[in-house]
This record gives sequence, C-alpha cells and structure tokens, in this order.
Amino acid sequence: MSNRLYIFDTTLRDGEQSPGASMTKEEKVRIARQLEKMRVDVIEAGFPASSLGDFESVKAVADAIQDSTICGLARALEKDIEQTGLALKGAKSGRIHTFISTSPIHMQMKLRMEPEAVLEQAVRAVTWARQWTDDVEFSAEDAGRSEPDFLCRIFEAVIKAGARTINVPDTVGYAVPEQFGQLIHFLLERIPNSDQAIFSVHCHNDLGMAVANSLSAVLHGARQVECTINGLGERAGNAALEEIVMAVKTRKDVFQCDTRIDTSQIVPASRLVSGITGFAVQPNKAIVGANAFAHESGIHQDGVLKHRETYEIMRAEDVGWSANKMVLGKHSGRNAFRTRLTELGIELASEEALNAAFARFKELADKKHEIFDEDLHAIVSDETVAVDQ
Ligand code: KIV
Ligand code: ZN
Repeated sequence: MSNRLYIFDTTLRDGEQSPGASMTKEEKVRIARQLEKMRVDVIEAGFPASSLGDFESVKAVADAIQDSTICGLARALEKDIEQTGLALKGAKSGRIHTFISTSPIHMQMKLRMEPEAVLEQAVRAVTWARQWTDDVEFSAEDAGRSEPDFLCRIFEAVIKAGARTINVPDTVGYAVPEQFGQLIHFLLERIPNSDQAIFSVHCHNDLGMAVANSLSAVLHGARQVECTINGLGERAGNAALEEIVMAVKTRKDVFQCDTRIDTSQIVPASRLVSGITGFAVQPNKAIVGANAFAHESGIHQDGVLKHRETYEIMRAEDVGWSANKMVLGKHSGRNAFRTRLTELGIELASEEALNAAFARFKELADKKHEIFDEDLHAIVSDETVAVDQ
C-alpha cells in the first residue's frame, strides 16, 4: 500500500454548491491558483454541463493551472461527458469525474432505474470518458447507503472499463467512522481488481463526522480524500481540507501516509475562500479559526511561554499564521501580562509597579472580553508606574 495520500479539492465544485457561495470565473481562477500554490493534487473546478458559466470557469481554470490535475464533474450521460471533455481540452493534466447513484433509495426514487441498468450506464459512462482522457474517476453517489455487494460489482466493472480512481461518497453524511472504515476495507479486499485503482472518499458533514469518516477510511486503505477549504459545501459541508491534511501530518505515527501539501498556504487559502464567498470562519474552527492558536488562560499561557509544546500540537507558522497568539483576558496570568508589556517595549520601574499594573489589568479584564494593546498602554500610563518606551 502506497504511503502517498492524494488531496482532491472540490471547493470550486461541491463547495460552490453551498447555498450563497457561487463564484465568478475570475474568482475561481484566483482560488485555483492558491490551491496550486498549496500543491493540491486534483482541483475539481466545476460541473461543465450544468451551465455555460460553469463550462467557461472550468475551461479558464484548466487553461491557467500547470501543477495540479484539473477535474470536471459529469453525470453518467454522453452529453455531460462531452461537455466536460471539451472544457478540459486545455488542461496540462485533466480528469473526468463521472457519477451515478447506487443506493436503493436513489435508484428507485430518483433515477427510477433497476440496479443492472445503473451498472450498465456506469460502464458506458466510463468508456465514453476514456475516449477523452486516461484519467477517469467514477463515483457511486450515496455509496454510504448502498449495498456493499452491489458496490463491489459496479466498481469491479468500471475498473475493467478503465476508471483509475474509485470514489466512495457518503453523500448525505450518514456514515459513522468505524463502519465507513470497514466498508473501505471490505471493498479493497473483495474487489478482485481493486489494486488497479486508487480508492477515494468524499464525506459530507450532516452529522459532523465528515473528517472522522474520511480519516477512518484512510486508516483502512483509502488513498485519495475529497475535501474543501473551510469545509465549505452542500448543506453542512464537506470534509475540511485543512483538518485532514494536518491530522495526517501531525499523527503520521497513526496514519502512516502523507500528502504533498505546502501547509504554510492553508491559512492564506482559508482567508481567500472566506473573503470571496463571504462565508466567515468560526473563531474556534480547527487550524484556520482565529482562536486555533490563541491562549487565554493563565496556566496555558505560562506553559506555552515556558515550552510551546505544553499546549500546542502544531506550530501556527506551519499552517500560515504569523505566530501563536496570547489573548489577554480575565484568565491570563502575570507571565503573559509581563511578556506582552515587554513585546510592546514597556518596562516598569519595579516589581511593585508591575503588581499595581497587573491588579488594574485584572480589574479591567473582569469587565471586558479581551484586553487589547491600547488598554495595556492606558493601564501602565497611570502615574504609579514608570513607562519607558
Ligand atoms: O456528495 C456526492 O455524492 C458528490 C458526488 C457527485 C461525488 O458530490
Ligand atoms: Zn458531495
């Protein structure tokens, strides 16, 4: 089993399906350039058959990007695949991603097709797509609620037809980690030609488990994860790229694989996507939230000032923050207070002056959520302390 984990970013496709997150062609190209800089393996740029605008966006991204594979989504229909093939013509490396539903509820209620007809359509779609490119991905939509035996049959058939990536989407975020990992294990074991394809997962976050389900799949042999910046995506979103990448990097001992992502580009990518879509990042969001590397409590601040690893498992700089942040508030201690004063170039005349200033700081912190540098200047400008700037 290879130890390379491929990162497939679908911010520009599934992320854009988030209500209110639509992007212009120019915005998609800007984000795609940032994803390329971050060394994402595959950028899913859109769904070319869905609109002329999306066709043009996928084409513009395909023409602009050199170092990542550009992918377009297509239903298992000849006209969708043709539109996708045309949009990707200028790509240095292009992938067609075709999909059809495989769960009983989707086949009966949405497609109104028998399983055998779905299987035949999937094989036809992959065969059409192979006429445009060698790089074809097949997704069994709603795999998370599909019969595992049917998944084995359809995946074996599409691999024979030339699919090189097999994607197992948990379309409605129904899976739980242990069960989803076991499904990947079962598919890899049972499908006779599974070694001829990379197995991928694509998890939605309806129950808040998209990242956990993706990582469980990685532990059981999945080698591509489909994800989005800031977890943007349909309904509750997709698995968050930044969490997947940093989990695998930080816990290499557990996952035994790695990505080629330049993690220092994660925060810039998060900011760019948030700025363009207008979707704010919650402050306590892992990795990219404003508080992800901020410490407020005195015990934590004192620990971090003595040795960073007492309360930090990653370096803020490694994901693109300028540094970790000591937030001064009512839980902060004397060590963090003194350190911030020194950083601001403020030296107090004596220990007594520091004690007096610290007492005033605590008094103010009880009334205010956060104490800013201007507050500190005001606190130490009192005549009882000497200020040396
Ligand atoms: O969630 C899903 O099933 C999808 C597929 C089209 C891959 O987005
Ligand atoms: Zn999806």
